[in-house]
Amino acid sequence: MRLLVTGGAGFIGSNFVRYVLSRYADYEVLNLDKLTYAGNLENLEGLENHPRHTFFHGDICDPDLVGDVLKRGVDAVVNFAAESHVDRSILDASDFARTNVVGALNLLEPSRKNRILRFLQISTDEVYGSLGPTGAFVESSPIAPNSPYAATKAAADLLVRSYHHTYGFPAIITRCSNNYGPYQFPEKLMPLLITNALAGLSLPLYGDGLYVRDWIHVQDHCAAVDRILHHGKSGEVYNIGARQEMANLEIARLILKSLGKPESLITLVKDRPGHDRRYAIDPSKLKQALGWKPRISFHMGLQETIDWYRHNAAWVEHVRSGAYLSYYDRMYGQRQKTLSEL
Ligand code: NAD
Ligand code: TYD
Repeated sequence: MRLLVTGGAGFIGSNFVRYVLSRYADYEVLNLDKLTYAGNLENLEGLENHPRHTFFHGDICDPDLVGDVLKRGVDAVVNFAAESHVDRSILDASDFARTNVVGALNLLEPSRKNRILRFLQISTDEVYGSLGPTGAFVESSPIAPNSPYAATKAAADLLVRSYHHTYGFPAIITRCSNNYGPYQFPEKLMPLLITNALAGLSLPLYGDGLYVRDWIHVQDHCAAVDRILHHGKSGEVYNIGARQEMANLEIARLILKSLGKPESLITLVKDRPGHDRRYAIDPSKLKQALGWKPRISFHMGLQETIDWYRHNAAWVEHVRSGAYLSYYDRMYGQRQKTLSEL
């Protein structure tokens, strides 16, 4: 199978590319990524000369580029490419609308024309909005996005849905809860807390610190996407989650304890506007229909993740200093493909 993975230099996308290449000896991955601030080729270190991995530096909003990549005989598209950070979307949502909505449409249309066999839209539980103290999102929960980020992801979901309904296009939507694991950009809660704790800096928690997220290790997410890619039913939505709810304050305490750092590093800061109080995902449909289940317990996954950031100080330093931005020139400069060479 030849897969087009978009956003494959980001956190989840790069983990998924590694997952696919190691699991399927005969699969080829075409990896299309714009390398925004969140795209980091150091996430793909070691794959530069992999015979079944080809990296394309480009924008999913570029119709010529997407069309040319698809013409290489792509069987399935997995769309991870997105602007993904809620706080940035609150400051300015224009890139979010462009990549998350226009970009998704710009993948859907040529994928339909090229008769792609499968299109996976990687969405998020945030399209469902916020929960009270009990209950969990199911696939039929109303779409009620609260942040500009979530609104653009919801818009893409609706476009994907319409393509299935109107054209019979073989698309599936996945909605996963908060991921954690290696290679996550340290603007997101988990890597921010870990890298700050390692550096002896304060751990900023918004508001009262009691906001709840439902955590899943990125490897379990990748395994779920793999399962859905191969066995999911077109037109369906699948929730993905590990039923691991935790308040942000509790996570900060666990990280500090693991690193032997004082709780006095925790600092409550000004709240995020419109901050969703609680997310919780019910993944029963995926479990029952496709037999998937998460394998990594939160405590084991958290410890491994802390260890990963501790042992990959160079990665952390390059991300914090911006040095990773020159990696493309160093590793790919000689092999850079221009559109005319595709
Ligand atoms: P990320 O921000 O780490 O990575 C996004 C990647 O997309 C980056 O490599 C970036 O360069 C690339 N990109 C951005 N705009 C692009 C464009 N116009 N063209 C091509 N590439 C572009 O994000 P992530 O955390 O890995 O999330 C991946 C996907 O999973 C997103 O669609 C996100 O909405 C979804 N998701 C994330 C989480 C989570 O907890 N991180 C949970 C559920 C769903
Ligand atoms: P984040 O990682 O941005 O993911 P999302 O908002 O998409 O769920 O944030 C996770 C939770 O952590 C959320 O409740 C906001 C909170 N948070 C903080 O308390 N401090 C921070 O510095 C950040 C980035 C997030």
